[in-house]
Amino acid sequence: MFVVIMLQDKITQYTEEIKAFVPSSSADVENFRLKFLVSKGIVKNLFDEFKTVTPEEKRTLGKVLNEFKQLAENTFKEAQEKFGSGEKQKSQQMEGDLTLPGNGFQLGSRHPISLVRKEIVEIFKKLGFIVSEGPEIEDDWHNFSALNFPPEHPARDMQDTFFIKKQEGNDITLRTHTSSVQVRLMEAGKPPFRAIMPGRVYRNEAISARAHCFFHQVEGLYVDENVSFADLKQTLYHFVQEMYGEGTKVRFRPSYFPFTEPSAEMDISCTICKGAGCNLCKYSGWVEILGCGMVDPNVLENCGIDSKKYSGFAFGMGIERITNLKYVIKDLRLFSENDTRFLSQFETELI
Ligand code: PHE
Repeated sequence: MFVVIMLQDKITQYTEEIKAFVPSSSADVENFRLKFLVSKGIVKNLFDEFKTVTPEEKRTLGKVLNEFKQLAENTFKEAQEKFGSGEKQKSQQMEGDLTLPGNGFQLGSRHPISLVRKEIVEIFKKLGFIVSEGPEIEDDWHNFSALNFPPEHPARDMQDTFFIKKQEGNDITLRTHTSSVQVRLMEAGKPPFRAIMPGRVYRNEAISARAHCFFHQVEGLYVDENVSFADLKQTLYHFVQEMYGEGTKVRFRPSYFPFTEPSAEMDISCTICKGAGCNLCKYSGWVEILGCGMVDPNVLENCGIDSKKYSGFAFGMGIERITNLKYVIKDLRLFSENDTRFLSQFETELI
């Protein structure tokens, strides 16, 4: 008898509480559910208590208890329609054991070329260079003529260039270098220019450990008033220290490119033997990493820039080269074979 009174009292008390329930947010609705309707909630507890009363008492109390349950459920439903966040409610109603661990999935890894391109871009971004891109299918003007290549220059030869379409005066080719993007950038805007231009380039070469018919370059261009060779050296020196660590030495050797004057190639002290001499640097202690120079005034003029007022420097480096030195990869073909034994070695480099 004692239990019945207790139960009856509780039901009356909770009924009042539920009738007075006025939710003002979805959190209120959720709290209501947690209090009354979950498996350790009040409704379930009252039903458990109900099991312990005598059969006659069950007859009187059964109806009351069922009505109470109905009231709690309906109140929740109404409140949920008003406030409940659909998604949350749905997931809570999902069947199955939600505490089981989920199915694992395998993470891929970034390609080493992407990793290094990102690193190069980050270094130059901090110096105020913007990133610019151009098309891989180029015309003769952007890939050669505007860059001061004389008509008979060997680089235009069928040996080096993939031609898409031969047309009088302006062949369509796959770009052989990212220097074409310099031209596009300068034609489209006004100085100053400070940009790096990463991209894929193509050359008609037999595939071997040291050469491929496509590879990646990052071009750099800085054009403004009074830009000097000292600016070029300092910029590239900074890049090398960031990329390969403090203390890496650089040296510039005179070179020739039609679009820069003077031109140079830059070497760094061998990253493997630190200059002592090894297989990688062919026992010279130095490895070449890029071509550079002061933008030839003809190129500026071809792009509509006053070469008396403005000067600039440019450089171009092969990303494969930079990557080979960083990770000691000796065969270029590995980059395009998609062999997961090779690629998975860069899994820890998820940046
Ligand atoms: N375009 C040159 C190459 O592909 C590299 C270069 C870029 C040299 C800019 C000088 C200035 O080899």
